[in-house]
Amino acid sequence: MKVVIASDHGGLNLKKAVTEYLSEKKIEFTDLGPDSTDSVDYPDYAKPVAEKVAAGEYDKGILICGTGIGMSITANKTKGIRCALVHDTFSAKATRAHNDSNVLAMGERVIGPGLALEVVDTWLNTEFEGGRHERRVCKIEE
Ligand code: RB5
Repeated sequence: MKVVIASDHGGLNLKKAVTEYLSEKKIEFTDLGPDSTDSVDYPDYAKPVAEKVAAGEYDKGILICGTGIGMSITANKTKGIRCALVHDTFSAKATRAHNDSNVLAMGERVIGPGLALEVVDTWLNTEFEGGRHERRVCKIEE
């Protein structure tokens, strides 16, 4: 599995925790930045992640800002992207199983790193169920 990840300044610390987790789990990833706490605009980081996942260059994307909201709104503007803003493991599992979400958004100012890593682990390891959910996901694309 290949993952592409980015944050803004508000999500930098949680992104570091997530990239350490990905390294520990030997999951291949690319970090598109930023790597400092200088203020940046989240759409500049959400869009490249969304485009690379939509183009099939990566299997999944992870976006982190202060709330996760700006990142998720931006990512969902790219056709083919189903970005889910998630801060609990129930939703992490459900959005993979039912929505086949391909980008995960989280907010560093909303969730602690312990739960965030459980969310990432659940989201990366839950398969799409297909079946009736496939029809619904197709309707999103239409
Ligand atoms: C940055 O201050 C903040 O607005 C951003 O990280 C995010 O929460 C936007 O949705």
